[in-house]
Amino acid sequence: MEKKLSIAIDGPAAAGKSTVAKIIAKKLSYIYIDTGAMYRALTYKALQQNVDPNDEQALFSLLMDTDIALKNNEAGQDVLVDGEVVSNAVRTPEVTKNVSAVAQHKLVREEMVRRQQLLSEQGGVVMDGRDIGTHVMPNAEVKIFMLASVDERAKRRHDENLLKGFESNLEELKQEIAARDKFDSEREVSPLKKADDALELDTTSLAIEEVVDAIVRIAQEKGVHG
Ligand code: CDP
Ligand code: CDP
Repeated sequence: MEKKLSIAIDGPAAAGKSTVAKIIAKKLSYIYIDTGAMYRALTYKALQQNVDPNDEQALFSLLMDTDIALKNNEAGQDVLVDGEVVSNAVRTPEVTKNVSAVAQHKLVREEMVRRQQLLSEQGGVVMDGRDIGTHVMPNAEVKIFMLASVDERAKRRHDENLLKGFESNLEELKQEIAARDKFDSEREVSPLKKADDALELDTTSLAIEEVVDAIVRIAQEKGVHG
């Protein structure tokens, strides 16, 4: 029988994790799980309800009262909070500014990891985030730590914003991305970090398809037919 693997993709902001993870999941008929969207969903709800992103207990209570769902569609994935589609609302600059503060708390992370592990327990999953190879799926057969220079990542986000018709400032993006990476890497609870057994993939000068092919090849070496 076809082997169903778990594929963990971690790395800093705008490295291309979700774009590539989505394509790989489709190619292999696997489930795609965007864990960043889950932290963004809680941040969105906290902002709506005036819950302080630094108040761990209040955020935990809010999370226990919040249904977060990821639903695949043709374009990729919708994020739902308590049944409402919030896919665009979770990617506003306001949410982006506050998400790392929300994601730093132990109680919040433990509950998120519990939910992510439930979603992935059957295997056949591509999951992207910051702590997937280190904490959420430590036994994943394929672990990728995806990198790209901060200039390249800011440029990618900038181009993406312009394409969507959003306002965008390259210099500000560079600063926002660098600051978020630093905060995510320095937090106490499961910081952004390459797992010892993860493969580092620098995508600075790679096209999306080249990154996809490289990871599918690695999965094939582990026994998957893509
Ligand atoms: O798409 P982008 O790189 O901007 O970020 P994201 O993947 O949506 O993640 C947003 C934020 O959620 C990150 O900056 C982290 O603070 C947090 N996050 C995390 O702590 N752990 C994860 N597994 C995923 C995201
Ligand atoms: O999920 P993450 O924050 O790591 O990044 P993303 O949202 O998947 O990618 C950020 C942008 O970079 C998207 O607009 C991708 O189309 C683009 N990208 C690229 O130009 N070249 C790559 N090799 C990967 C992504």
